[in-house]
Amino acid sequence: GPLRVLVFGASLRTDSVNARLASLVARLFAEADAETDLAGMGDFEMPLYNGDVELDQGLPQGALELRDRIERCDGFVISSPEYNASVPGVLKNAIDWVSRVRPQPFKDKNAMLVSASPSLVGGNRGLWALRVPLEHLGTRVYPDMFSLANAYQGFTDGGHLSDAVLQQRLSETVTSFLRLVEADVRYVVLQRR
Ligand code: FNR
Repeated sequence: GPLRVLVFGASLRTDSVNARLASLVARLFAEADAETDLAGMGDFEMPLYNGDVELDQGLPQGALELRDRIERCDGFVISSPEYNASVPGVLKNAIDWVSRVRPQPFKDKNAMLVSASPSLVGGNRGLWALRVPLEHLGTRVYPDMFSLANAYQGFTDGGHLSDAVLQQRLSETVTSFLRLVEADVRYVVLQRR
């Protein structure tokens, strides 16, 4: 069947530019014949991580739902804002909760990281920081990250990037990532024979 890619917008804001970037990325995957699952942080409710809560009540429903969505995909994309040159607390909190599930779903998954930011330098420092917990968990983080600067002015009404060169680069990054996921899935199938 077709490859399945989860595209996750990591901001809770209604008018999130990262949600917009996630939609665009999902559309590009669909155009490349992948099955896409578009998700946002707001779909998964969870409290702040607390070891007492985990002991008493187990994992929150939102974390288990996010785990299911990650498990069902062949690869995932996170579109995350950069907060203070790092990972937003809500995203780190979600990763921390989901990392407590066994089997741990981030392990051996391919992921691509993208960011949208109103700043002129983009959100790349946040993405570098996001690599640390993901790689620790065994995710294979795609080397080429995409960061959209000046993001409040970055989209056309149709939801594409206003800058045609950037739109082309995003599209190429998506295709390259998809090719890697495909090769990896095929390799795993061959191993099982
Ligand atoms: C920010 N923002 C920000 N932007 C950036 O490029 N580098 C940064 O270090 C920070 N730091 C930061 C800290 C905090 C606490 C907030 C609330 C915001 C701005 C941020 O990029 C902006 O709010 C984006 O619009 C967030 O993305 P969404 O929510 O629109 O997807």
